[in-house]
Amino acid sequence: MDNRTNEAASRRRIAVAGMGYVGLSLAVLLARRHEVCAVDVAAERVDKLNRGISPIADREIEAALAAGGLHLTATLDAGRAYRDAEYVIVAVPTNYDERCNHFDTSIVEGVVEEVMRVNPGAVAVIKSTVPVGYTASLRARLGWRNILFSPEFLREGRALYDNLHPSRIIVGADRDDPEMAERAGDFAELLKSGAERADVPVLRMGSTEAEAVKLFANTYLALRVSYFNELDTYAEQKGLDTRSIIDGVCLDPRIGGQYNNPSFGYGGYCLPKDTKQLLANYDDVPQRLIRAVVESNDARKDHIADEIVRRLGSAEGSTVGVYRLTMKANSDNFRQSAIRDVVERLGGRGVRVLIHEPTLGGIREFDGYRVENDFARFAADSDVIIANRWEPALSQVRGKVYTRDLFERD
Ligand SMILES: NC(=O)c1ccc[n+]([C@@H]2O[C@H](COP(=O)([O-])OP(=O)(O)OC[C@H]3O[C@@H](n4cnc5c(N)ncnc54)[C@H](O)[C@@H]3O)[C@@H](O)[C@H]2O)c1
Repeated sequence: MDNRTNEAASRRRIAVAGMGYVGLSLAVLLARRHEVCAVDVAAERVDKLNRGISPIADREIEAALAAGGLHLTATLDAGRAYRDAEYVIVAVPTNYDERCNHFDTSIVEGVVEEVMRVNPGAVAVIKSTVPVGYTASLRARLGWRNILFSPEFLREGRALYDNLHPSRIIVGADRDDPEMAERAGDFAELLKSGAERADVPVLRMGSTEAEAVKLFANTYLALRVSYFNELDTYAEQKGLDTRSIIDGVCLDPRIGGQYNNPSFGYGGYCLPKDTKQLLANYDDVPQRLIRAVVESNDARKDHIADEIVRRLGSAEGSTVGVYRLTMKANSDNFRQSAIRDVVERLGGRGVRVLIHEPTLGGIREFDGYRVENDFARFAADSDVIIANRWEPALSQVRGKVYTRDLFERD
């Protein structure tokens, strides 16, 4: 066998369900060495990927697809993809259902059931964030052992980068099932061999502990955001300089200077829903802090709305210009973004809202509010411009801008 035949023979077959931030970054990472088939229910995403175009905004994914050489195909035909796979990575949405106070895991279930039906010898690896205890209960309900859970820690916009340089790789299995524990080790090796960071810590643990790692990690991040936001609320109300306080506090090496920049609240797809899910998991366990993390975010957005109205002088007849609906400067979506909740509060108080969001293209209205994507007209029509994150374009109208982005970074 020559080298190329050798390489082809060592390629493993992996299917990935869901071509969002999580699924697509893993698909691209693994397709550098293995045969990967990505599955989605969105025909447009499948079509784009098959044409070598990334369906999400991510520099590294775009570059990897443009460079070519990946063993990657996309399909709407889940059955076909799962039938041939050794591992099926499940990276589909788990939105928080406010009515039953829990993640809606029905899409994950649908995928795992189909894998079990068409290919019971495969292993399903859940990458979607799920409630603590979910994987064990799904294994029991389906009477199928081959389900692992591996938490995902990437950031949107740097999804592939974060998987190439992971802070850690964690794979959870049934601790009483030596065969599945071995498969967990094998899957962790697959991820590790695709990474560019050589010394990635790899942890193997029970699937329930792995699920807890994900929710406790995100709740800690939300806690930290909330802490510096409440510090800022205090400083604003007492007329103090937040920046000086944060600089002084964070020079303590135990606290550290990272992830301490005030904002309108934590947001994005994961932190709001993951904190609520952890709180739901506490159900019969005493706590005060976890609930406070959830409630603090509402209090922060109330304060921000009050502060904006105070700056306007009068809510009636004034116009607030909303500079970007995204959470971060480089984001391509505004799922659960804090500024949208602030806008809702302002709208409820009779403030006129004008939105500037270039990713909306030519549309004139969003969420019932007028959109003005010509920056000069937008700035001229706004009495106060609010921005969750500072961008250089705002320098021209600095005097009108209200932001809490004191360090000009995420
Ligand atoms: N976005 C993040 O930063 C992040 C980080 C860690 C974990 N997670 C978790 O990973 C999961 C996925 O998140 P995401 O941001 O990648 O979601 P996403 O919304 O970007 O992508 C999900 C994809 O799944 C597709 N899909 C829906 N139903 C499907 C089905 N039955 N079969 C195949 N595909 C289907 C959707 O069309 C979409 O393309 C969620 O549970 C999330 O909480 C997300």
